Amino acid sequence: MTPRDPKDRLIVALDVDTLARAESLVDRLAGLVGHFKIGSQLFTASGPAAVEAIQKRGGRVFLDLKFHDIPNTAAGAAREAARMGVFMFTVHASGGRAMMRAAAEATAATAKELGGGRPLVLAVTVLTSLDRAALGRELGVASSVEGHVLHLCGQIAAIRRQFGPAWVIVAPGVRPTGAEAGDQSRTATPAAAARAGAHYVVVGRPITAAADPATAAHAILEEILFELRRGRGAAGDARDEARAGLK
Ligand code: C5P
Repeated sequence: MTPRDPKDRLIVALDVDTLARAESLVDRLAGLVGHFKIGSQLFTASGPAAVEAIQKRGGRVFLDLKFHDIPNTAAGAAREAARMGVFMFTVHASGGRAMMRAAAEATAATAKELGGGRPLVLAVTVLTSLDRAALGRELGVASSVEGHVLHLCGQIAAIRRQFGPAWVIVAPGVRPTGAEAGDQSRTATPAAAARAGAHYVVVGRPITAAADPATAAHAILEEILFELRRGRGAAGDARDEARAGLK
């Protein structure tokens, strides 16, 4: 499940208010970034047209609407996501096992019916904007963030066995050293996320709000590639290789 091209590990979150802004970002990142996340802001503003616009430009879409509903409704939403041809979409793990299973089943059935690839169904565990204090005080969850993530992963594991062995780990809240955390409480650098085993990292504002989004994306990709090469035991010139790999 690891993307073949290391560049595809970076997913840029297009949290913007208009389709025109999203299209302009995709165009500015052409050749460097091929995976884009559409979340509730852009989807509420532009709907499926945003998905189509990215796909028309050759990009793959991660639809991050974090479905959290009764199983029948979540299954219906999953069916529509599969029809749109997104490569991955999210549900909330806290929606429960029946909801996650209904979404996964509907996705598999729709993909089979259409004869296309089956989108990955990702379960969001604990939002990276939440820390332990918020979990306990506001959501009534007494365990630590890690404990609660592991608890939710246990629910996901039961469903995963039914649908195939691969886990795909996607890390949001990724911040290059020195970048603003914004509303994120728990962040990691691109290198740390790659080192910890994330298959994909999601980066929004550090790229989309940069004066030059392509330069910002390039620096993040370089850091991920450097870490991956270093992890494979490449020699000290891994950084040069990482640079060369992005050309
Ligand atoms: O701008 P920034 O890099 O903080 O964007 C992170 C993106 O990842 C946002 O679109 C947010 O909705 C999403 N996300 C997150 N934490 C999660 C799941 C998704 O920040 N646990």
